[in-house]
Amino acid sequence: MEQKLVVHEDAKSPIAEAYRTLRTNMQFAKLDGELKVIMFTSAGPDEGKSTTAANTAVALAQSGKSVLIVDCDLRKPVQYRIFAKKNRGVTDILIEENITAAQLIVDTTIPNLRVLPSGPIPPNPSELLGSQSMTKLLEELKQTADVIIIDAPPAIAVTDACVLASKVDGVILVLGAGLVRPDMARKAKELLIKAQGEILGVIMNRVEVEAEHAYYYYYYGNE
Ligand SMILES: Nc1ncnc2c1ncn2[C@@H]1O[C@H](COP(=O)(O)OP(=O)(O)O)[C@@H](O)[C@H]1O
Ligand SMILES: [Mg+2]
Repeated sequence: MEQKLVVHEDAKSPIAEAYRTLRTNMQFAKLDGELKVIMFTSAGPDEGKSTTAANTAVALAQSGKSVLIVDCDLRKPVQYRIFAKKNRGVTDILIEENITAAQLIVDTTIPNLRVLPSGPIPPNPSELLGSQSMTKLLEELKQTADVIIIDAPPAIAVTDACVLASKVDGVILVLGAGLVRPDMARKAKELLIKAQGEILGVIMNRVEVEAEHAYYYYYYGNE
């Protein structure tokens, strides 16, 4: 779990520097139109969606933007474990009439960063994420922060990420090096594009970095 917030806990490390580079690149990823709601997905499980989403959210918050991370992986929620104490969030708001986002968004220990957990695992995640209420919720959440980072389920096997793709301003595809087959990566990209998602970029995660290079970046970043 500590590893997940390297940007916060080891801000001078090369890995944190890589997340900051990602933050910078994201700012230039879409020149036309609004880029406020950004979804992280991947082809399959364990490629690093949640880790990348959390660290990118921290890097953005460190740059002074107000950031809300929303856990839309209603099947395997993890953001509450990283940032919040309990898991009440998206599903509670969508299912219960008198619960609002404002009641369930929680502060984290990181300045400028708040989190809306997923809430309890529902029997019908795709249906909930595809609902009109979800579209309304996202519109409402947009008013609460400069940037909304969405942690999503994988794009293959379940339709959740594709259902969300058209509701967000941009999609970042996280590929686990050595984990995802090239044809699966391509398939995920195709599915997201077909679902009207705008892919901002692809991140190779779990790439082995040679120590030599790591130190080079370390010193470079601290001169
Ligand atoms: N770059 C990385 N290096 C080492 N471990 C990683 C890396 N990215 C993710 N992990 C670990 O892999 C596991 C799955 O990552 P996670 O971000 O939860 O994947 P996903 O959300 O795509 O299912 C977690 O235990 C996480 O700490
Ligand atoms: Mg995840």
